Amino acid sequence: MGERKQDKVLGIRTVGIREWTNNIIHYNRYEATPYKALKVLAENYKFRDTDRVVDFGCGRGRVAFYLHNRFHLPVTGIEANDKTYEEALENKAIYRLKAKHIIAPIKFKYGLAQHYKIDKRDNCFYFFNPFSVQIFKKVVYNIMRSVEEYRRTVDLILYYPICEYKDFLNTSTPFTIINKIRVPGGSDIKEKFIIYRLKEEFFDEAEDIELAN
Ligand SMILES: C[S@@+](CC[C@H](N)C(=O)[O-])C[C@H]1O[C@@H](n2cnc3c(N)ncnc32)[C@H](O)[C@@H]1O
Repeated sequence: MGERKQDKVLGIRTVGIREWTNNIIHYNRYEATPYKALKVLAENYKFRDTDRVVDFGCGRGRVAFYLHNRFHLPVTGIEANDKTYEEALENKAIYRLKAKHIIAPIKFKYGLAQHYKIDKRDNCFYFFNPFSVQIFKKVVYNIMRSVEEYRRTVDLILYYPICEYKDFLNTSTPFTIINKIRVPGGSDIKEKFIIYRLKEEFFDEAEDIELAN
């Protein structure tokens, strides 16, 4: 099924690209994660009933609608482009008519990802290259601070991961790779998901080491 047809099933419009008009170098353009990639993610990553997903740079909301519809999970999308955000809200209005039976909330917030206050229940964070690594670092540090305060295991799902994100996570954070999910048929090596996890125990172990020293 084509991308437009899959949009239609959900009652949304997410196909297309939107460039930033005013040369904002740190913010990347809008482009949705392909449905075939989302399908592979859904089949290979175990979403749990207790998960709460945040899509940083959610665009018109495709990932949020897809996961909400498939797994009935609470999802929040953060978007900094006002037009794109409005489109996500328009999508939500139609989608909600079709998905009345799903109790879990689906929310969109207008604003910068780096200013989003991480909810203590958020535990699964999605990124499809929304912004520069400088902003990515701020967002990841916000997540780490939240986890330190409200202990829990959290995952980062990176689609089409860029080296700068990976280098930062591998060298400067306690996140470790738990899975790599390739999108079959993709000719591009970057067409994959990398899942990074920070386990709840990490901070306890770090505290124990500190006490022992
Ligand atoms: C590549 S698109 C990904 C869209 C969606 N996550 C998906 O996978 O279908 C990146 C989105 O991030 C948004 N964005 C860029 N910088 C942002 C920021 N600092 N805070 C929030 N959103 C941002 C862009 O406007 C764009 O819609």
